[in-house]
Amino acid sequence: MKVAVVKETRPGESRVALVPLGVQALLKAGLEVTVESGAGISAGVSDADYLAAGATVADSAADTIRDAGIVLHINPPSLSEPDEVAGLKEGTLLLSYLNPLGDPALVRRLTEARVSAVSMEMVPRITRAQSMDALSSQATVAGYKAVLLAADHLPKFLPMFTTAAGTIRPGRALVLGAGVAGLQAIATARRLGAIVEAFDVRPAVKEQVESLGATFLEADEEVTAEGDGGYAKELSEDQHKKELDLIAKAIVNADIVITTAQIPGRTAPLLITREMVESMRHGSVIVDLAAESGGNCALTVSGKTIVAHGVQIMGPENLPSAIAVHASQMYSKNIVTLLGEFLSKDGTVTLDFENDVVGPATVTHAGEVRNERVRSALEGASA
Ligand code: NAI
Repeated sequence: MKVAVVKETRPGESRVALVPLGVQALLKAGLEVTVESGAGISAGVSDADYLAAGATVADSAADTIRDAGIVLHINPPSLSEPDEVAGLKEGTLLLSYLNPLGDPALVRRLTEARVSAVSMEMVPRITRAQSMDALSSQATVAGYKAVLLAADHLPKFLPMFTTAAGTIRPGRALVLGAGVAGLQAIATARRLGAIVEAFDVRPAVKEQVESLGATFLEADEEVTAEGDGGYAKELSEDQHKKELDLIAKAIVNADIVITTAQIPGRTAPLLITREMVESMRHGSVIVDLAAESGGNCALTVSGKTIVAHGVQIMGPENLPSAIAVHASQMYSKNIVTLLGEFLSKDGTVTLDFENDVVGPATVTHAGEVRNERVRSALEGASA
């Protein structure tokens, strides 16, 4: 069976879904791989590298996808020009980010096209599926890059320096949301010598924050909202107010603030108000990793950097693309491992819905929406 890897069409995207190591793994599993010419170039992979790994290179997306039984993507296929669903034939197995809770039009279209669509966002957060978890691998990249961005825009050092020209005090970082991206942001800021404070509504992360050498902020009364599957849920109004008080006290001392707080399927929680921004020192930097889902800071503009009250507020989109080589390498490993769950020994595709990864991750199959949460989101959208 043929696996197709096309060039991502999202503007500014530099990653590719499969790197040569992944090609080799799929060949070993009995599959053939065709890659669109130039698909890997901005992730450091040339057509020659793919050919050397045993793939075929095709000139256009249409030629790449033709006769493919499996298509690998990073970004959800676009429905406008180029219409990437139009090229998928009935029964194709598509593995990609699909934003199935936020993009009902795409889910409907994939259902109508009778594509078997597997969503990277729906891979369960279970130990067995860690190596298939693109949310985690790409959040690791984003958390790291966010601190580098902040450090680059900060008109100060982060490390402490003792020099003949005087002693420089270390910078202070505040990290809000200590999930995968937040923990990587803490580790990166610590490596750069900053003093780090962090907060999360899941008390379980306190120990992880402290093990990275950061201080976990604690309110007088507990502020917690632990949801299902290791995720957070929305705070009550009263608890949210307590959280804002806690952040307001800490933020005045921060040189850089990295926010990563998300609640699956919802708008990101507001953690930094306009008043808090006004209370910060001129030159300080906020990097809001939740920008694309509404932002954790009231003043964030997604995809832009603005300056308000002397504070630089960055709302980067698709940060993993900025570290395309390693982000692609990690995504490729995730997608190859995930694809393994859909293959039988002879390299043919078999969807076993009893499988604890295949069941939840498959969003559409044979003209039906399979995933319960996606079905409810779809009904909600058309109500
Ligand atoms: P996420 O991207 O959904 O959210 C980021 C962080 O924001 C979370 O730690 C969440 O608790 C926090 N948050 C939400 N509302 C907040 C608020 N009002 N104030 C402060 N923080 C808030 O989550 P992510 O990073 O994708 O994963 C969260 C957790 O899921 C992990 O830490 C882990 O426990 C679990 N997980 C398990 C995996 C596995 O076992 N395979 C893999 C990855 C994650």
